Amino acid sequence: MKIAIGCDHGGIALKDACVKAIKDFGAEVVDFGTYDTQSVDYPDYAEKVALCVANGEADKGVLLCGTGIGISIAANKVKGIRCAHVTNKFCAQMSAEHNNANIIAMGGRISTPEEAYEMLTAFLSTPFAGGRHQKRVDKITAIEQKNL
Ligand code: RB5
Repeated sequence: MKIAIGCDHGGIALKDACVKAIKDFGAEVVDFGTYDTQSVDYPDYAEKVALCVANGEADKGVLLCGTGIGISIAANKVKGIRCAHVTNKFCAQMSAEHNNANIIAMGGRISTPEEAYEMLTAFLSTPFAGGRHQKRVDKITAIEQKNL
């Protein structure tokens, strides 16, 4: 399994913890940067990770910015992406189980590295429940096909 990761300067504080969570889960890291605290634009990293996941080159992705908000909004502009902005373990689990999210976004000015590790581990290890949730995810896809 391959997991793509991307962040801006605001999310870099969570990056090492997320890379460790991916490796501890037994997956391969596909790293799109950034690599330091120099100011960059989060949409550039959102697009790289989102395209990698949408093209099937990575199975899932993780995006990090200051709040997780901007980078999730940008990722959701790519067809096929369901990027969930999460701030706790329950939301991370539900984003996988109910929404079949393929990327999670977190904020370096919101969450600690320990919380990010826990959320990403929950996201990666929780399967999509399918059933009634599949019908709802299909409706999301229908909206995307009509409007994107
Ligand atoms: C960058 O300062 C900040 O705006 C960005 O990391 C993110 O929080 C945007 O949503």
